[in-house]
Amino acid sequence: MRKIPVIIDCDPGHDDMMALVLAYGSKALDIRAVTTVAGNNTLDNTTRNALNVLHYIGADEVPVGRGTKNPIVRDHQERIAQLYAMRRKWKMTPAAGEKEQEPKKQVTGASAHGVSGLDGFTFPEENPKREASMGAVELMAKVLRESEEKVTIIPTGPLTNIGLLVRAFPDLLCKIERISMMGGTSEFVLNRPFMEFNTLLDPEATKIVFESGVPIIMFGYDVTYRVLYDTETIRRIEAIGNDTGRMVTALLKYFMASHNSSLSHLNLKDVAPIHDACAVAGVIDPTLVTESKMLHVDIETAGTYFDGATVCDYTGCLKLPANVEVVYNMDTPRFLDLLVKASENCK
Ligand code: BDR
Ligand code: CA
Repeated sequence: MRKIPVIIDCDPGHDDMMALVLAYGSKALDIRAVTTVAGNNTLDNTTRNALNVLHYIGADEVPVGRGTKNPIVRDHQERIAQLYAMRRKWKMTPAAGEKEQEPKKQVTGASAHGVSGLDGFTFPEENPKREASMGAVELMAKVLRESEEKVTIIPTGPLTNIGLLVRAFPDLLCKIERISMMGGTSEFVLNRPFMEFNTLLDPEATKIVFESGVPIIMFGYDVTYRVLYDTETIRRIEAIGNDTGRMVTALLKYFMASHNSSLSHLNLKDVAPIHDACAVAGVIDPTLVTESKMLHVDIETAGTYFDGATVCDYTGCLKLPANVEVVYNMDTPRFLDLLVKASENCK
């Protein structure tokens, strides 16, 4: 079977880890490069985590290109600090009777992923896998330039690298099949207006991507909070008994507990989202998407209401061309089956 050529741009992150396992283990994708971005944690940590995951699952042949330390215009650490300040302002956490969830030392990242960005599993200290000599944007450009077929880009972190690619190599946009991104939200509001972590961290990059003219499919909170894994999914992956299964089990258990306590107002119990894997699954099997709409989507960058808020014109009142396919639902049982099968196919 012909494999679909892809580049995965990520910030692992527990759900980014699952996205990598799914992409590699599905056997349906030809991963031409993995690139890293600062997001769930610092660039150093997300790059180390990507190298660890890829080596651990047996994907040593996949080149890894390191991205930039900060969003295109803003500062990564400042943006994370602003996120926590917003959470306080919107009184998201803690719920009544709970301990303050505000991270103390770990202002480097998103709370649900822990201090390292991938807490819950200890990788071997020595990892022979090294990053490529080329940085993320150059590596993506090389892959696109050298590919005979169009390549799908799957961003599962802030869109910094993709925004830079669009600006630096406009001649290569015709080589992108489409961008299948995890990010944004249309109607699901997580107790704060239209805020999703990846678009919040780099609104300017998101704007460049939305305006690029490249076909985009957006797996935002609207769908990712519908497609939840549960303790049975973990049990099935644990039962596989291979190295990848052990790693995925430990990390999914950690993520479920930590996600649900740091976002306690969502009242999720024994289930959690696995956001980034949705954007990969939609490329492996587009029939998994059961509900989506072509919409005009833009993003707030001017600070008027809420920077990083995706603005989805779902009534069409702006009369602007639809630039994004916004996904609202997926076939959860088949999606979860794919996660299990992919874990089984890895080392
Ligand atoms: C996104 O933010 C990160 O924490 C996850 O890895 C995912 O990409 C969800 O908002
Ligand atoms: Ca991510």
